[in-house]
Amino acid sequence: MAETNSNELLMEKIVSLCKRRGFIFQSSEIYGGINGFWDYGPLGAELKRNIKECWWRSMTQERDDMAGLDATIIMHPDIWRASGHVETFTDPLVDCKTCKGRFRADQLAETPCPKDSRKTVAECDGEKTEARRFNLMFKTFVGPVESEENVAYLRPETAQAMFAQFKTVLEVSRRKVPFGICQIGKAFRNEINPRNFTFRSREFEQMEVEFFIRPDEVVRQLAGSVACVADRPDLGGARHTWGWEVWHKYWVEERLRWYAAIGLPRESLVEYWQKPEELAHYAKATVDILYTFPFGTQELEGVAARGDFDLAQHQKFSGKSMEYFDDEAKAKYVPHVIEPSAGVDRLALALICQAYTEDEAPNDKGQMEKRVVMRFHPRIAPIKVAVLPLLRNRPELVAKALEVRDLLRSHMAVFYDDAGAIGRRYRRQDEAGTPFGVTVDFETLGEQGPALKDTVTLRDRDTMHQERVRIGELAPRLAAAIR
Ligand code: GAP
Repeated sequence: MAETNSNELLMEKIVSLCKRRGFIFQSSEIYGGINGFWDYGPLGAELKRNIKECWWRSMTQERDDMAGLDATIIMHPDIWRASGHVETFTDPLVDCKTCKGRFRADQLAETPCPKDSRKTVAECDGEKTEARRFNLMFKTFVGPVESEENVAYLRPETAQAMFAQFKTVLEVSRRKVPFGICQIGKAFRNEINPRNFTFRSREFEQMEVEFFIRPDEVVRQLAGSVACVADRPDLGGARHTWGWEVWHKYWVEERLRWYAAIGLPRESLVEYWQKPEELAHYAKATVDILYTFPFGTQELEGVAARGDFDLAQHQKFSGKSMEYFDDEAKAKYVPHVIEPSAGVDRLALALICQAYTEDEAPNDKGQMEKRVVMRFHPRIAPIKVAVLPLLRNRPELVAKALEVRDLLRSHMAVFYDDAGAIGRRYRRQDEAGTPFGVTVDFETLGEQGPALKDTVTLRDRDTMHQERVRIGELAPRLAAAIR
C-alpha cells in the first residue's frame, strides 16, 4: 500500500513537472481538454523529435537493409478489411446505466468508478449492460457525401502501408530479401479508457519496421545441411541461412541495444515472451519489451513474428501478387515478416520517468536544497547546452555569451538564459534535463589574467562538476557527447 502511494505521488510529480516545464499538457486545455489527446510543449516536442531521429538514424543511415516510407494516414478502406481490423480490431465494452460511463469489460477491476473513486467499476453498485464488441478505428468520410461507401478510417497502426507498398518499395529501392521497410507516423485508436497520462492515448505515434525474410523452406534449401532453422546459430553467422526464430531474436536484441543507447538500460526493461494462448492468431511468437512505470510494468514495444499473414491477405484482397523472386534460391515466395513496433509517446513517457530524479544541490547562498533533475541521456535531451552569462547587466559578458551561443547553435540545441541568479538558472536547466551548462564570466574576458581568457566554465548536470574549457574546444567536445 505504501509503495502504491509513493508510486502515485511520483506519477503526480512527473505529470506536474511535464505541465510546468512544457513537456506535455492536455490538448485543447482552454476548452476543458479532450480525453486521450495530448500536446507536447517546447521541451516535449524536442524530446520526441530526438527519439524519432535516433530511431530513424539507427534504422536507415546505420543499416544497408532498410528503406524508409512516409505513407498517408487515410488509406483505401479495403486495406483494413484485408488486415482484419474492420472485423476484429475491437475491445469488449460495457455501459453503466447508473453513471452513463463506458468501460472496457476486461478492465473493470482496474478502472476507478467515476461516481465513487474508492471503488472500482467492478465493485460499484451501478447497473451494467452485457459486454459488446466496439471497433477502435476512428471513422471519417472521403469527399462531401457522408455515405457508407465513402467511409474511411484513420489508421490504427502504421504497419499496413508498409505491407501494401511492399512491392513498390522493393522495386524502387532495389533491395533483396532479407530487407525491411520502416516508418514513423501518427496512429489513432478510439480507446475506451485512455489512461495513465499519455500511456494509452487516442492519438499517438508509432515507429515500426516490417522486416521481410525468407520462409523456412527457402532457408533450408539455401543452408543445405542446416537441419533445423529453429537452432540458434551464432548471431554473427551468414544471414541468408537465418530462420525466422533467429531473425526474431536478432530484432529483440537490436531493440534492447537501441533502448540502452538512449538511456533505458537493459536492466530497466523486461523481455516478456507471450505464451502460446496470448498470441494473435497470425503470430508465431511475440516478445513484448516492457518498462516499469510508476503505474506498473507495461509494454513499450512488441516484436512479433507475423509469418506471411499480412502480405498473403493483401495479395488475396487486392488481387495483386506479393510474391518475390529470389535469384539466389531460384524460388518464388511471399516473404515472412518480423515486426518491431514501438510507440513514440510511451517511450517519451518511459524516458521522462527514468530521467526524473530528486537530489540536493547548493543554492546561491551555499546551502543545500532539494533539486529536481531530469537525467536524460545527452542524445535525447531536449536542449543540449545552456549558455549563461554570469551577470546580465555587464554588456561585455552578455556579448561574449551570445558569441558562444552562436558558435554552438549550428551544432546542437542551445538555450541562452540571463535571467536571475546563476544557481536558479542551473536549477531550471536541471529540470529541463539539459546535460551541459556553459557560464561566461570575468575570467572569460581575461580580467583575471591572459591564461584564462576565452575559457568558460563547463558544468555537468548530473555530477554538478565544473571545469574550465577553452571556447574553441566546446563544440567538438559537446558534439561527441551527444552523438
Ligand atoms: N503493428 C503492430 C501494432 O500496432 P501494437 O502492440 O498494437 O502493435 C505497437 O502497438 C506499439 O504502439 C505499442 O507497443 C505501444 O508502444 C504503441 N501503442 C499502441 N496503442 C497505443 C495507445 N493507445 N497509446 C499510446 N501508444 C500506443
